[in-house]
Amino acid sequence: MLGLKTFISAQVENAGETLSACLPYGKGIVMTSESSALVAERQAALRTQLGEDIVLSDAEELVRYCRDWHGDVTSGAVAVLRPRSTEQVAQAVRLCRELGLSIVPQGGNTGLVLGGIPDEEQSQVVLSLERMNKIRQIDSDDFSAVVDAGCILSELKDAIAEKGMFFPLALGAQGTCRIGGNVSTNAGGINVLRYGMTRELIFGLEVVLPDGSIFDGLSTLRKDNRGIDLKQLFIGAEGTLGIITAVSLKLTPYPDQVATALLGLASLDDAIKLFRRARRDCCDLMSAFEFMPPLAFTLAKEAMPDLPIPIAADYPAYVLMEISGCGLVDIDDLMGRFLESVMEDGLVLDGTIAASQSQARNLWLIREGMNEGQAKRGMHLRTDVSVKLSELAAFVADAEAAVEAAVTGAICVSYGHVGDGNVHLNVLPAEGATADERIEQIYKAKVAINGVLDRYQGSISAEHGIGRLKRADFEARLSPVRRQLLTSLKHAIDPDLVMNPGCQLNFSANS
Ligand code: FAD
Ligand code: LAC
Ligand code: ZN
Repeated sequence: MLGLKTFISAQVENAGETLSACLPYGKGIVMTSESSALVAERQAALRTQLGEDIVLSDAEELVRYCRDWHGDVTSGAVAVLRPRSTEQVAQAVRLCRELGLSIVPQGGNTGLVLGGIPDEEQSQVVLSLERMNKIRQIDSDDFSAVVDAGCILSELKDAIAEKGMFFPLALGAQGTCRIGGNVSTNAGGINVLRYGMTRELIFGLEVVLPDGSIFDGLSTLRKDNRGIDLKQLFIGAEGTLGIITAVSLKLTPYPDQVATALLGLASLDDAIKLFRRARRDCCDLMSAFEFMPPLAFTLAKEAMPDLPIPIAADYPAYVLMEISGCGLVDIDDLMGRFLESVMEDGLVLDGTIAASQSQARNLWLIREGMNEGQAKRGMHLRTDVSVKLSELAAFVADAEAAVEAAVTGAICVSYGHVGDGNVHLNVLPAEGATADERIEQIYKAKVAINGVLDRYQGSISAEHGIGRLKRADFEARLSPVRRQLLTSLKHAIDPDLVMNPGCQLNFSANS
């Protein structure tokens, strides 16, 4: 396990050159006495002006804010700021500017591309939204809610459900990630095929801008076409343009009928045929369609040994499918008739329908356990790619073949939201590989996958964002016009590059 910069550079440069520079886990913070004095001075100024309650600067306390979810890397920060209100965020931003500090906003720190972790630990603070977790209002007449950016996703979903409504964003990290982080990454997850990405689920935002002013765009109007929709600038910006402090959410009726089925199929190609058929036959009431390889069960069991697996584990492909609705439709009947017809046609070979909410939950735990199981196997390559749905099966076959040719013994784990043309084509290094060999294999596998992806004109980031991890790969694929637009936008809103430098693009090199 590594310091952040080493980890990133090992994935983007010539692996051979950088391997020798690997830092052991936890040894990422190296300060000279000169910089230590400056850091101490800045910490004291933060404490004096913002108050002891807001500022964490003890090295031990900083670790959890400076380590990624998988524990692959740890960096450091001058301090972690934990404001309790929008006004305190604005005050912190103004002070950081005065002190020459840049700001890395952070929600639940579940991001998978290192966007929320500093890489200049002597000049960056983490600004955590974790204490801004109030639900400001839930309105059943307007199907809207306004919440602080630091609300945990599952908690706000539960509060909304209590009022008979539904906020559709759903992802494995929902017990930890925070809505401001979801908006900043434009998170996807399992319900995108029916409800869209986060961008489509919000009405408005409140944002503290890099000069400390507050943009109040917290409207709950369903239609509002007054000029350029400014909130869009901050959605998916990964904290590079400002700090989101509150979000107004678009709600739907609560789908109190849910049918969940785990199905065994002959191939990914058949899974995509099934997806198309389900869209048509289920009247667009399908809310999830997740693809898993047989290895899913092994990985889930490694994370949760007692998890029941209610289907034979030797089909080449699996789909976890959900249909949901409310009111006068009969979802169980729809699922039953749909599965009967696709089994008759031989598209689905075997299947099980959850008979209770707890059985449905167990089926979802298999899908979620895949991530934990991979994490337990140590450092590995995680990708988040998309191609046209019509080309997904061919892409996965080509990319897996390219990985196998590039890295002997590596194991490909391709799974995810295939209905969106999105697959997480992850690669577990060969058994017995040393830490250096793992990094080398991760690098080679990534190059192999991206090479195939470029041929398919796909995206290197379907839902996780760019962060620091994918910056070089993103930059390498940017057209000059797009680069210029992004640079102009950044300089217009954040001319002093205070917000999350190092994330998404190296803007100082593009000025
Ligand atoms: P953080 O990790 O704290 O931050 C992410 C980025 O947003 C950083 O660049 C940070 O600087 C910025 N940021 C955070 N808060 C703010 C704010 N208030 N204002 C401005 N910038 C901010 N992602 C998906 O899209 N789909 C999935 O299915 C999915 N599944 C996951 C499953 C697991 C087990 C894990 C660990 C992660 C998964 N993710 C998934 C990735 C991650 O959960 C999402 O990216 C999530 O939206 C991040 O939210 P967060 O609060 O943890 O953000
Ligand atoms: C998932 C994350 C990795 O789909 O995006 O599980
Ligand atoms: Zn995903």
